[in-house]
Amino acid sequence: MSTVIINIKCLVGTRTKNEILKGKALSTIPCIENAFLIIDGSNISAYGKMEDFKKSVYSSFNEVIDAEGAFVLPTWCDSHTHIIFAGSRENEFVDKINGLTYAEIAARGGGILHSSIKLNEATEDELFLSAWKRLEELSKLGTGAIEIKSGYGLTLDAELKMLRVIKKLKEKSPISIKSTFLGAHTFPIEYKENHEGYIDILINEMLPVIAKDKLADYIDVFCENGFFSVDEMERICKAGLQYGLKPKLHINQLNSIGGIQSAVKMNAISVDHLETMTEEDIADLSKSNTIGTLLPTAAFFLRMPYQPARKLIDRGCAIALASDYNPGSSPSGNMNFVVALSCIQMKMLPEEAINAATLNAAFAMELENELGSIQIGKKANLIFTKSINSLSYIPYSFGSNLIDKVMINGKFIN
Ligand code: NIG
Ligand code: FE
Repeated sequence: MSTVIINIKCLVGTRTKNEILKGKALSTIPCIENAFLIIDGSNISAYGKMEDFKKSVYSSFNEVIDAEGAFVLPTWCDSHTHIIFAGSRENEFVDKINGLTYAEIAARGGGILHSSIKLNEATEDELFLSAWKRLEELSKLGTGAIEIKSGYGLTLDAELKMLRVIKKLKEKSPISIKSTFLGAHTFPIEYKENHEGYIDILINEMLPVIAKDKLADYIDVFCENGFFSVDEMERICKAGLQYGLKPKLHINQLNSIGGIQSAVKMNAISVDHLETMTEEDIADLSKSNTIGTLLPTAAFFLRMPYQPARKLIDRGCAIALASDYNPGSSPSGNMNFVVALSCIQMKMLPEEAINAATLNAAFAMELENELGSIQIGKKANLIFTKSINSLSYIPYSFGSNLIDKVMINGKFIN
């Protein structure tokens, strides 16, 4: 099956090299105006300027799609989500309006622990169905690859249940999915005073089964005061690494406690959140190959200071953007809003935000050879915009849905 897309007003993110974008390179996004693109099966096989396209060869394609002047971009890669959850937490949303903080709600047994109760009550089928609906919504919003974490189970059975749901999503969804084991999301109530007891379960009961059944690609820990200490995180990650699970970590959301240095030392794929970064944290991250994944909608929703995107970029850190979609701190997985918020509140240039939400985000889930840019051989996962005049119009007109159509693996989704 071969398809040609003609009359693309602007083909965005055309690259021949796969390199993580840092510093100045993040602000450049190669584009071709008035372009065509050819797809063979589910992959991009050629692209170029319309004037170089031979109209005489139309008949050799199974399908000719007229983009009618749309901008065409690679789909968003959302490299940090928690979309397997049961119930919702709008009561805590109101508690926060009334003055409680995220940490206070967590300390009195709400937050992640509340979601854990609901998760344990839900059946695997119910969890699959609700996550499937979320995935459907997100793909229509332009997300073409996603990382999904466990972490609301907090028992062997329930963590395995979550990871099996992710595995099933991987099998059934056309979207590329990566799975992360986040058993160390918080301590279950009965282990609040017995951290060693829970860490023992994580390392000696959960990890061996997860590895045997190939249920995860990565390991994550919520490293934070009141949650897991740096030392606890290191021990859990080292155990994960023995099974080949590389760390992708929740770091520096509420406090800077040395998580960056430890993550860098362990060669973590990414450190995610980064609302509270010291000068030393930024310097240490900039010298590493670890990607800083910024989650601005979590800062927005919790009314926290935004991640210092400008400083991170200007000091040469590799950064990506993700939604953190979860019921407590970011009940939205809309990457269009993530990109807009990054420009509006973190002063990222539109090109920087789009690069960080596509190619760099693909790197943050090790999918850079398949996704994140318009490159020959990569998957034809594409966003077709409505009529717009420039790339900057996308984040500028935040809240408007500017996506006309989304293509995954060379086929339009409904
Ligand atoms: O990334 N901070 C830790 N984990 C999630 C929130 C989980 C929740 O509140 O349910 C986050 O923000
Ligand atoms: Fe998260």
